[in-house]
Parts: sequence; C-alpha cells; structure tokens
Amino acid sequence: MEIIKFPNLLPIMMDYEEWLKSKDLEYREGILYMAGVNTVDIAEKYGTPIYVINEDLIRKRYKTLKKELDSVYKNNQIHFAVKANSNLSVLKILKSQGAYFDCSSTGEIYACFKAGISSEKIIYTGNMFTNEDFKFAVENDILVNLDSISQLKRLSKVYEDLGKEKNLISFRINPEFGAGHHSHTITAGKDIKFGILDNQVIEAYSKAREYGFKKFGTHIHVGSGILDPNDFDKASEKYLTIVMKLADTLDIKFDFVDFGGGLGIPYRPKEVPLDLEEYKKVVIKRFKDLIEKVDMDQVDFKIEPGRYITAEASIILTQINTIKDNGYKLFAGVDAGFNTLIRPTMYGSYHHIIVCKKNSKEKTQKYDVVGPICESGDVFGKDRELPELFEGDYLAILDAGAYGFTMSSPYNSRPRPAEVLLNDQKSYLIRKAETFDDLLSHQEIPDHLK
Ligand code: LLP
Repeated sequence: MEIIKFPNLLPIMMDYEEWLKSKDLEYREGILYMAGVNTVDIAEKYGTPIYVINEDLIRKRYKTLKKELDSVYKNNQIHFAVKANSNLSVLKILKSQGAYFDCSSTGEIYACFKAGISSEKIIYTGNMFTNEDFKFAVENDILVNLDSISQLKRLSKVYEDLGKEKNLISFRINPEFGAGHHSHTITAGKDIKFGILDNQVIEAYSKAREYGFKKFGTHIHVGSGILDPNDFDKASEKYLTIVMKLADTLDIKFDFVDFGGGLGIPYRPKEVPLDLEEYKKVVIKRFKDLIEKVDMDQVDFKIEPGRYITAEASIILTQINTIKDNGYKLFAGVDAGFNTLIRPTMYGSYHHIIVCKKNSKEKTQKYDVVGPICESGDVFGKDRELPELFEGDYLAILDAGAYGFTMSSPYNSRPRPAEVLLNDQKSYLIRKAETFDDLLSHQEIPDHLK
C-alpha cells in the first residue's frame, strides 16, 4: 500500500481573533457575541451556568464534512455520534441536514426516535450488549454493530424469538492501532475492550453467515480527539487490509464500510485544526481507490463524527461569585463545576476561557478558574492569563458542545443547567434547568423511615 507523508504539516498559525471567529465568536465594543448574540444578555436573561448552542455552526460543520466526502465518494453517510450531544433540538437540526446517527445505547436510540429520526438512519454500536438491548434493537429494526463473536448467538436467538428476518449485520473491528487525546479515548489496541481482533474476523463473519445473516457491514473507531492525519493514515491502512482479506477469503460484498469518528477540533488558541484534505486522502480516497479495484463499488462509506460537528458550537456561560487571593495565588470561583463540564477534571482537557465583557484596564493576571464542587480537582483552568476579574463578571468556557452536557451530573446535588439555542439572532430555551425536586423525584422512603 502506498505510503503517504505529510510535508505540509508545519503549523499554520491562526491569528487569535480568526480562531475565535472560526467558532462564530467575536468581541463587539468589548462584549462577547456568539452567532451575533450578546452573551451578557443571554447570561442575564436565563441565568448561569448555562449551555449556549449555535445552530448555524452545527449546520456549517456538518455541511463542510459532507461536502468533503461527496467530493470524493458519493455513496457516503455521516452518522452523528449521539453520545457527544443528545439534545433533541441538536438531533433535529442534524436530521434536517440529512444526517444519519450512531448510537451507543438504547437510550440514545430512544432520543433519536423522539427527534423523529427513523430506524434506517441509525447504527447501534454498543458494547457489552444485554439481551434487552438486542430485543429493543430488533423490535425497532435497528442495525446492530456487534462487539464480540459471543454476542452472535444471543442476537440470533432474539431475531428468531421475535420472528424477524435476519438481514444486515456488522462487527466492530479492532485494528490493533488506536489514537486519541487521552488514554481513556484510545479505543483500539490488543488490550482495549472494544471490537474483534484481526485473527478473529474470519471466524466472526463466517459464523454470522452460518447464523443466517445475509448482508454485511464492517466498522472501526480507533479513538477520539485525533488531530494528526498520520493516525488516521495508520488506522485506515490496517483496517482496509483487514476488510480486503475478509472480502477475498469469504467472498463477501460488503454493504458498508464504517470508519468511525475521532476527528479532533482546535481547543487551544492557534492550534492547527485537523487537515481535512489529508483526512480525505488517507481515509476516503484510499478506500475509494481500493474498492474500485475489487468490484465493490456500490459499498456505502460511513463515518461517525461527534466532536467535530458539535463541540465548537457551544459555550458555557458562568458567573464569578468569588475572587480569592490566598496570598499564594488567585482563584476565580464560578458557578459551573465539573458537574457541568467534566472534561478538564477527567482527561486534563484544555477548554479556553474568556471574559464576556472586557474591562477598560490593560492589566492581566493569572487565575485558577475553579468551580464550587467539594473536590480540589474542580478546576477548569490553571494559571489562565485573564483581564482583571471581579465578582459578578461572566466568563465563557469554550467548545463545550461535545461531551459537555451528555457527561454532566448532579454531583453535590447541583441540578443540571439549562440549554439555550441561538438561531437567526434569537435565543430559545431548549432544556429547562433541573430543580431540586427533579433530583429527588425518583426516590422512595421505606415505611419504617417515614
Ligand atoms: N463512534 C464510536 C463507535 C465511538 O465510540 C465514538 C466515541 C464516536 C464514534 C465519536 O467520536 P468523536 O468523533 O466524537 O471523537 N468523552 C470523551 C470522548 C469519548 C468518545 C467515545 N466514543 C471526551 O470528552 O473527549
């Protein structure tokens, strides 16, 4: 296979204002605007902390990616990874763009149905499936992407018990090469729980045939938050070698080949974004060149981005309640915490933090921006160089639209915040904030404690 190198990967520095603008953020007379809407007004109207989502940017990211795929290979589908953002309005926005969806649980499939998305647009890539998961999928005609050979027997039985015809099946393949922004998000490699290894693929697909499945797809997802096209290059080379081996050995004409998600975004100012041209070359173009040689030219090509589509389209607005100078360092204490956005605490992830209103002073200082959770790990950013801050000021935490709300929790009995959608210069409340009663509503007190 051709070895592709990346001579143009010398960092192309983006100017800071340009970087903000690429996320549809800008300062007008010292006030931060998102999608043309004043963020201080939003914070005051709805309260903080609050997630603010930019509809236009979600559409734009989807369209950019779709155009890139279409330019190389027409039979493609972009399945949005619902785990990144499962808000019904977000799902509806993507549905209206023509997106497909990747679900990792039956709860996510349920959310898709509530958003009016039909079964044939969904792939169910779970892992450690229960029989109830299979029943839900088969009853609702959802394509299952299996994670272990052992699951075939149970899935087959569910089809038989429900009297449904076995048709299309897929396996998640672990190409033994993974990448990602943190060890927790590297999802391939021999010691990783996901997928089936190369030496088991022939057995998996032969057995699927024996069990009566007639059509076949194949899938990988090697990790999340990947900015270096070399990683996609290695993964796709290994993956396509395995796909070709399967096609040759078992004489399978695959219905689809799914390359998963993983496309990273520039969380840090001036960070070099993923080079989509290179991604196209090593993933889609290579796939196209290969299948043209082997008479598989009707096969669908799928990808499953989550972060790339929604991460940059959302910010968290949070208010400073406490400026603490402990004589050693300065803390800016805000009303959002790792209950609102866990990525910095969980993965050490960088999320850029900016003021919603610039003050007239030139002076900047270093602050640790911290939340109200009773753990010292509740830190959004250490030693952040910010203009002088005051109690009552609003801050924006950027790039919170993927794995933000979906990973939030009511830890410390703090209700989850509201979500607001911006569209055409207007704001819409798309999720009410939880209340204390919401947090307690599922509890029951046994008689002897009443
Ligand atoms: N497809 C499959 C099968 C996946 O497991 C994932 C993510 C995706 C697609 C979408 O990946 P993306 O394009 O968003 O990178 N909580 C972590 C990310 C975990 C992702 C797990 N799987 C974070 O906040 O970085």
